[in-house]
Amino acid sequence: MEKIAIYPGSFDPVTFGHIDLIERATKAFDLLVVAVANNPRKAPPLFTPQERAEMLKEVTKGIKGVEIDIFSGLLVDYAQKRGAKVIVKGLRALSDFEFEFQMALMNRRLQQDIETFFLMTHEKYAFLSSSLVKEVVELGGDATQFVPKIALKKMKEKIKKK
Ligand code: PNS
Repeated sequence: MEKIAIYPGSFDPVTFGHIDLIERATKAFDLLVVAVANNPRKAPPLFTPQERAEMLKEVTKGIKGVEIDIFSGLLVDYAQKRGAKVIVKGLRALSDFEFEFQMALMNRRLQQDIETFFLMTHEKYAFLSSSLVKEVVELGGDATQFVPKIALKKMKEKIKKK
């Protein structure tokens, strides 16, 4: 049976931390579906789900076993629809733990046969988040070491239009 995992997130925009996680997670599964959330809690996003998915497609095109998709509604329902038994999440600092723990347990209550697997972030990216990168770019800082070129370019375009 094909081993399918879902890596969900806002990806607003994709960072080098996400890409590192995608590269590592693909080694453990036949297919990793990177799923852009259409209903993020963190409003308002800078990019539409389609724009976020496009950027992800572009930056992951060299990685085998990856598919980019957009989902709405409950993550566990989407995972079930895709035939995935595993949700992959990245953990950075201790501060991520509490909420991730809550979500993993909630998801397990909602759908018992879906497991959440956590991958530790690469130490190089332990401090990195899309929100902080957006702030750096909005305030004129250099974000070349945090996000792929395409994301940086698109962020600058969006911010100029705001
Ligand atoms: O990158 P983020 O913002 O940390 O991703 C959060 C995300 C999208 C994974 C989370 O908000 C989510 O799973 N949303 C889907 C809605 C859902 O299933 N909610 C109940 C989760 S316990």
